Formats: sequence, C-alpha cells, structure tokens
Amino acid sequence: MKVLVFATNNAHKAREIESILGPGFQIKTLRDIGCLEDIEETEPTLEGNALLKARYVKERYGYDCFSEDTGLEVTSLDGAPGVHTARYAGPGRDPDDNIQLLLKNLENKSDRSARFRTIIALLYDQQEVLLEGICQGSIATEKRGTGGFGYDPVFVPDGYDHTFAELGDEVKNEISHRARATAKLLEAIRGGAL
Ligand code: IMP
Repeated sequence: MKVLVFATNNAHKAREIESILGPGFQIKTLRDIGCLEDIEETEPTLEGNALLKARYVKERYGYDCFSEDTGLEVTSLDGAPGVHTARYAGPGRDPDDNIQLLLKNLENKSDRSARFRTIIALLYDQQEVLLEGICQGSIATEKRGTGGFGYDPVFVPDGYDHTFAELGDEVKNEISHRARATAKLLEAIRGGAL
C-alpha cells in the first residue's frame, strides 16, 4: 500500500482522490499524520507556496505528499489577486468582501478576462513535480448564482454564459482549474511517469 499525504485538512478532497486512485493507494490528510500546525504560505507565487507546503510535510514527517494552491489572476489587474486570492480584502478571508473589492477594482476596466490557476506540488519517490491546471474566463459585473464557493458567483468560464455558482458542481468538476490539475496528478501517479 502506497501512502501519500495530501497537505490539506479537507478530508472530503482526500477521500475523493483516494477513491479515484483505487486500491494500492492510501491518502492521508495533515490531521491524519498529526500535523496540526498552520503551515504559513510566505512565498510570492502559487508554485512557491505549493512546494513550501509539500516540502514541510516531507521534511518533518517523512511522507511522500502533494499540496495544492489556487489563485485568481485578472488580466487588467496585472494578475491580481493571484497569490493573495484568499485574503484579497483582508485577513478575514471573507468571500463576499473579496468579491466586492474585485468588482470595485474592475469598475472602469473594459477587459474583464481572468483565469483560475491551480498548482499541485508532488513530492514522490525523491522527485519534485509541479502540475498546473488553468480555467480561462471572465469576471461578471455582479454576483449571480448560489452554488460553489469563493469567487464562483462572479467567474464565468469561457464557452459559458453563466457563472460557476450558476453552473453547479457537475460542470465545474469537468472544466475547473482544480479538476485539470488533479487529472494531471492522477496521470503522474498512476501512469508511472515519475
Ligand atoms: P486554495 O489555494 O484552494 O485555498 O484557494 C485560495 C482561494 O482561491 C480560496 O480561498 C478562494 O477564495 C479561491 N478559490 C480557489 N478555488 C476556487 C474556485 O474553484 N472557485 C472560486 N474561488 C476559488
């Protein structure tokens, strides 16, 4: 049985990946290995923070592991909020405040294009790999829909007229940044490309 740590406290995400990988793999969360400390994300890039978390687990706990970091990158805001996506409007990490600030900062901008970018850092059998998933889209002028989380009510993926919050999980799980990065992770682990 190959044990891999997913550097998250979201047990749901861990079970989901475990069931996709099938027998032969056990996915543990940070809580499962007794890592209860807050791993501070101090790097200026998504790549840096994803690697920082995975290396922290590998160095202190000895497990092969992977971690995930996601940012919203808005073209006319020079890639902001980027690495600051979760705390765009302040340390409270309030999704509504974040969205209000984003809409305000885009008020006079004609280009509303944006993308979600997920980076997964995988430390596996002495190797370090970065995997990227991108979902291209644009920012709506007001909140629409009740599903999802974070910026979903204002993110319209390219090829659709509705926000992620209106489209729901089924569509989102097909086309999202996270789904795409996760597909690459599964390919890397299962395909023996490492
Ligand atoms: P994390 O790296 O997965 O914690 O994501 C950082 C922040 O990006 C979250 O706090 C959300 O605000 C935002 N975010 C990440 N993924 C999504 C998504 O799929 N929809 C909307 N917002 C997201």
